[in-house]
This record gives sequence, structure tokens and C-alpha cells, in this order.
Amino acid sequence: MTLTLTGRKALVTGGASGIGEVTAQVLAKLGAQVVIADLAADKLAAARLRTGACGITAGDVVSEADCNRMVEEAGAIMGGVDLLFNAAGIGDDLLPVHEQEVDRWQHVLDVNLRGTYLMCRAAGKQMLRRGQGAIVNVSSIVGLGAFPGRSAYGVSKAGVVHLTKTLACEWGAAGIRVNCIAPGYTRTPMVQDLLDRNVFDPTLIEQRTPLERFAMPEEMARAAAFLLSDWASYITGTVLPVDGGWAAYGAAGDVRKIRTGEG
Ligand SMILES: NC(=O)c1ccc[n+]([C@@H]2O[C@H](COP(=O)([O-])OP(=O)(O)OC[C@H]3O[C@@H](n4cnc5c(N)ncnc54)[C@H](O)[C@@H]3O)[C@@H](O)[C@H]2O)c1
Repeated sequence: MTLTLTGRKALVTGGASGIGEVTAQVLAKLGAQVVIADLAADKLAAARLRTGACGITAGDVVSEADCNRMVEEAGAIMGGVDLLFNAAGIGDDLLPVHEQEVDRWQHVLDVNLRGTYLMCRAAGKQMLRRGQGAIVNVSSIVGLGAFPGRSAYGVSKAGVVHLTKTLACEWGAAGIRVNCIAPGYTRTPMVQDLLDRNVFDPTLIEQRTPLERFAMPEEMARAAAFLLSDWASYITGTVLPVDGGWAAYGAAGDVRKIRTGEG
């Protein structure tokens, strides 16, 4: 039995870049019709060609009207929406709470948490009418444990976990499953930008990760595709860390030294 998404109609937010784009590509390869949505309207046409998506829709996930319209447009293109992958998101300024701009903090919450809520709400209404659907949201390892300087991002991603559980419980009886993945550090434009600005040291991250490397976006896409597929038919309300063991690791310092008894 092979994993297939043939006949499914998938909407992917953040589909013009990174994890969203690669997931759109994987969903299309697995047979789904896919519409990609993004704030970066100028990048959508090229991303459509790269992913094999059948349509595009531009909008801001912070806006309720845009979310409703993006779901409507995707539904009009595909004849409905029964899968949703919410990858639209932004990072934060890596400042401690007492140095943060409150408006900037709020904006990160608005994009990552309100945006996920609004897209689930808009697509969920359509799924409720159809009596079927699956949603995968994107949390983060930063939503599972505290990272100093990342209160906005961390709170937003912890909120995504809780929202996912709540929706799974509200919509389970209606045939809609809702799960989330919690990626570790993944080589996407968002992370490359942080590396280019020397915001963090890649070696320290590799040393803190049991698999000793960053993830590739395809590894997030495969986890998301599984959770969206019928192979995950009895899985709802879960958070799946896709993090090379990051969340499992509890010792101090370099995982390699601990393993060899040097740490
Ligand atoms: N890359 C990582 O290491 C990592 C780790 C954990 C979680 N994540 C999460 O994965 C998701 C994708 O991240 P990525 O690394 O692929 O980033 P990315 O910057 O490559 O892609 C994010 C996309 O979201 C879009 N977007 C941003 N704000 C939006 C808005 N208001 N409305 C609509 N679209 C908007 C951007 O235009 C962009 O195309 C994000 O939610 C991010 O928080 C990433």
C-alpha cells in the first residue's frame, strides 16, 4: 500500500518559499491538487512552476478577509479544499523581553498564531460542510521549550500546539483531523538569513542535535504529507517533533562529547 493523495485538494500557506513551497511540491507529487498562498505575491508565479501547483492566491494571513478569500479562491480553483498546510510564518528579533518592541512582539503573534487560527477557521468551515478534512499546522522546537530572546516566536508556536489540540477535539466527530509538526532548524531562506547575519552559530546547533545536522525542507514535507494522508487516519491532536532528536535531548552541552564520555 503506497501513500497517495490522489483526488485531494490541498491549500498551502507560505507556499512561495521554504517548508511551504517544498511541502506543496511533495503533496503535488503524491497526487494532490495544490493551491499555494503567500503574502509575497511577486514570488507566487515562479513557485507555482517549481511546485507543480494548479493555482495561486495572494494574501496576508493576519487579515480575516484575506484568509476567507484565499480559501474561497482555492476552493473555486480545485472544487473545494480538504487539506490545509499552514506554513506562513515569520521569525523574531532575538531580544530579551525587556528590550523588545511590544508592537513587533504582537506582529509575530499575529502572523504565526492569529494567521494559523484564521486559516484553520476559514478552511475548517468548508471542511465541516464537506464532512472531511485534514490540517497540519507548523509549530517549532521553540514552541516546546523556552529559547531566551525568542518570547514572541516561542509563545506563538506554543499557541499553535494548543490551538491544534483544541481544533482536533472540536472537529474530530465531523471527520476533520488537526495535527502539527514541530520542526527543528531547517535549511530554508528564513534560517539562511539568520546564518548570513551570524545570529547563531551552526556548529552549536549541530552539537545540540542528536542527528548532528540541520534538517532539509523535504524532511518537514514528508512528515506533513504523512499527517495529511489517510496513513494517519487515527492520528489527531498530536504535535510531531521533526527535529533530529532536539526535543528528546536533555543533557548539558555537546551531544557528541556526552556520547563518548568526554562531556
Ligand atoms: N526553517 C526553520 O528552521 C523552521 C523551524 C521551525 C519552524 N519553522 C516554521 O516553518 C514555517 C515556514 O518557515 P520557513 O523556514 O520555510 O520560512 P520562509 O521564510 O522560507 O517561508 C515563509 C513564507 O511565509 C510567507 N509569509 C510570511 N508572512 C506571511 C503573511 N502574513 N501572510 C502570508 N504569508 C506570509 C513568506 O512570504 C514566506 O514565503 C514558519 O511557520 C516557521 O516559523 C521553520
